[in-house]
Amino acid sequence: MSPQPTFQPDLMAGKVCFMSGATSGINLQIAERFAEAGAALFVISRSSDKVEATVEELRGLGAKADGAAVDVRDYSLVEKAVADCANAFGPIDMVLAGQAGNFLAPAIGMSANAFKSVVDIDLLGSFHVFRASFTHLNRPGASLLAITAPQATNPMPYQTHVCAAKAGVNMLVKSLAMEWGPSGVRVNAISPGPIDDTEGMRRLAGDPEIAAKYKQALALRRWGSKDNIADAALWVTSEAASYVTGTILEIDGGISLGDASSALPI
Ligand code: NAP
Ligand code: COA
Repeated sequence: MSPQPTFQPDLMAGKVCFMSGATSGINLQIAERFAEAGAALFVISRSSDKVEATVEELRGLGAKADGAAVDVRDYSLVEKAVADCANAFGPIDMVLAGQAGNFLAPAIGMSANAFKSVVDIDLLGSFHVFRASFTHLNRPGASLLAITAPQATNPMPYQTHVCAAKAGVNMLVKSLAMEWGPSGVRVNAISPGPIDDTEGMRRLAGDPEIAAKYKQALALRRWGSKDNIADAALWVTSEAASYVTGTILEIDGGISLGDASSALPI
């Protein structure tokens, strides 16, 4: 049997997307999925090489695409990039705040600047992206999406910086959903579980033994795919989810349920 299409073709035809951190991993897959669905895209990340390669790739998929090398920690650069996006493609329908930083480190092995770097990239950066976008949004109907993580609600050792930053992202999403809902703007987050073939999992579970233990604790006993997250991003920002706001969508194989290693297959 041939595989079923995972989304309606042209679901995003004519829509304009601004995406931060969309030049590798999960967020790049989201950008590709939106390009295939007909969107015009503006991508930002720090590396101009990664931005250029991504823009070329998205154009190769038939999408209108542009981008800029921007560190989300610099509000004035984010503001300029969002304005450039709106000038190039028109009012913005969808915004992704996807960038993050992570490394395993004990709290006492981490400088104040190390902790601050991750909070600034993940939390302050997401605020910058959403704050700068607001005046350029196509309202009503615009949809904002953050990428959070299970660390927002599951405390984890050697992840104090990420747990604190992503918990902040969850509350940023929920409070903005309340504040901007009356203007016809939806704000949601996706919380991916461990996703195969990503920088995040190389950093957290690069050792095969640790990876095997990780999988054994998951209800579904396997890591997810970047496609799983791209499909969810497409749905939650589309009209199909027009009554969904302030939600943290857990696409996580059950990691948020807790340790499922004692459950046996029947
Ligand atoms: P990744 O490939 O390292 O992607 C991170 C992206 O953010 C890159 O495009 C990077 O590009 C950009 N970036 C980093 N710092 C930035 C900054 N200061 N300003 C602008 N852009 C910046 O990571 P990933 O594993 O796919 O993770 C993507 C998202 O999913 C993250 O939000 C992560 O927390 C979340 N997540 C991942 C997993 C997983 O299993 N991988 C699980 C849960 C949640 P440059 O280097 O060019 O800046
Ligand atoms: N353990 C402890 N401290 C660390 C560290 C580690 N593994 N890696 C970096 N740091 C510290 C640095 O020493 C520095 O602190 P200092 O100034 O007191 O010495 C601080 O973190 C900032 O490091 P720097 O390299 O200047 O930051 P950056 O802004 O260039 O990069 C990071 C940010 C550190 C998060 C980097 O890993 C990164 O760019 N990550 C993006 C990709 C990623 O993490 N993907 C996975 C997403 S889930």
